[in-house]
Amino acid sequence: MKTPPKPGDFQRPILPGKGKTDYERYLRTDDLLSLQKPKDKRNHAEEHTFQIVHQSSELLLRGAENELERAIDLLGKNELQPAARLIRRANHYLDLTISAMAILDGLTPYDYHVIRAGLGHGSGLQSPGFLAMLHIGPQLGEAFFGLLKKQKLTLDQLYRKHDKYFALHEIAELLVDFDQRVQTFRFLHLKLAQRIIGGNVIGTGGNPVDILRQRQEHALFKELWDVRNRITEAVAAQTGEDESLGHGRD
Ligand code: HEM
Repeated sequence: MKTPPKPGDFQRPILPGKGKTDYERYLRTDDLLSLQKPKDKRNHAEEHTFQIVHQSSELLLRGAENELERAIDLLGKNELQPAARLIRRANHYLDLTISAMAILDGLTPYDYHVIRAGLGHGSGLQSPGFLAMLHIGPQLGEAFFGLLKKQKLTLDQLYRKHDKYFALHEIAELLVDFDQRVQTFRFLHLKLAQRIIGGNVIGTGGNPVDILRQRQEHALFKELWDVRNRITEAVAAQTGEDESLGHGRD
């Protein structure tokens, strides 16, 4: 009979790699936690916070990219529910990226300028994670609209008969969730930049901060926003209401 393991046995690492424990070896915490400047190399005590938020965001966005790549693959095979699960997860990753920015809201402008002096020409416009979102968004859109085409459905029909095409409608709405998150990221990031360095200055990448405001208005899936206008117009035409009155009709 096999001898049962002793409590001490579980303390000994069995995985290969650096680190005292299997936890550290598996997660490579030594490497991960050596990616921030050590205390004596920081331009400012706040630089640690700045680096942690940025690095975490890159990791979270990498997570989102990975799920979206898998989702696109599944959409190509018409596996809608598994794809939905992954797009939902990618959206959770984006939520975390968005909320992480609030940690930096409290950086004071003077403290930040000390950190900023060490950024070179580094700019968020070069963020591999965010660029990946901008790159994968259209691919996700193509996969979704490809499915609509295969089913010979227009977007308007999909929204009108959302019960009948529940799974596909769910994908459409998850795409809107994704787009909304990208726009929310841009909006809150714009506010972050405005409150720390101001809205009328030039960024470290050589661009006026105002380009952030212009980019914030960009939608990845314009058609999915536009269909709402047509629905409101169609409902107004049926009921004889003036749709320009909006929410407070009376
Ligand atoms: C102190 C905080 C921050 C400031 C003052 C700031 C400032 C700026 C500025 C001025 C730009 C315009 C381009 C340029 O650099 O010339 C920019 C772009 C950008 N930054 Fe930041 N940023 C901050 C934090 C962050 C964080 C935490 C992230 C997370 C990844 C981030 C991601 C980006 C992205 C993705 C862009 C391009 C935006 C777009 O495509 O619309 N930034 N940032």
